[in-house]
Amino acid sequence: MGQSFATPTATSAAGVTTHTVTGLTANTKYHYVVRAKDQAGNVDQNTVEVSATTPAPDTQAPVFGGITGAVATGNLITLSWTAATDNASLPANLIYKIYQATTSGGQSFAAATFTTNPGATSFAVPNLNPGASYFFVVRAQDESGNATTNTQERSAMAQTPTFAANVQPLLTTNCAGCHAGAGAPQGLDLSAGKAYAAMVGVNSKGCPTNKLVLGGQPNNSYLMMKINGAGVCFVGGRMPPGGALPAAQASTISAWITAGALNN
Ligand code: HEC
Repeated sequence: MGQSFATPTATSAAGVTTHTVTGLTANTKYHYVVRAKDQAGNVDQNTVEVSATTPAPDTQAPVFGGITGAVATGNLITLSWTAATDNASLPANLIYKIYQATTSGGQSFAAATFTTNPGATSFAVPNLNPGASYFFVVRAQDESGNATTNTQERSAMAQTPTFAANVQPLLTTNCAGCHAGAGAPQGLDLSAGKAYAAMVGVNSKGCPTNKLVLGGQPNNSYLMMKINGAGVCFVGGRMPPGGALPAAQASTISAWITAGALNN
């Protein structure tokens, strides 16, 4: 019964029957007396006390098996792992820190190269140099900031994106819904079997001084200006109109152009 009744520690809103006390110290027992006060300021004099102990801080890292896969598709590498578990955080609330190196065991664990969204079990690392090998360690972190210290590593070699395997599927999924057939915007048909001939070395309509795709020069390819929403002679809207292409996918198309925009 250590309360001083001279001033209340907290005053609830009118009419409520619960109150949440915040800002307490972890692992500490607190004792409470609650008194009712009417509009005239009359306070009851009860001394009924209840107590509770705040939980100890969570210092336990998740349980995690580490990275299980690294697969290159063109110049991006997709990492995967099995969800970690934790004593206090739900799997959907765990984040994963990705550490990248160009030599085996060369990761610096001081700062993560990438951090995933909560609950992710895969991550696509974009913008990698074709022909270069990359080594990855993934660590799980709970909501209290406790992270695993595992060093399981997977590696993959980034490749030059090819038209058939990496570029056309992106165009088919993101562009051909509009850009196909007789009514394709600006006559640009990006569907399978048509796209290559329709864009490589072909003058654009919006900026006729620029080719849609100019091998070796993504910055001078009007298609990339439309995807990036910027460029020396960008006009009209950014493509696709419904929302920008994810950076990893834009980088795949750009890397294919850099490598010569081959029909491979
Ligand atoms: C919702 C329909 C739609 C989708 C999806 C779409 N576009 Fe377009 N696109 C248009 C329209 C309409 C235009 C003409 C207006 C403009 O240029 O903004 C256009 C114009 C273009 C042009 C200009 C062509 C020229 O010759 O000037 C390019 C390049 C282009 N789109 C590329 C793409 C790419 C690449 C994708 C997919 C990543 C895509 N578009 C997805 C509707 C679409």
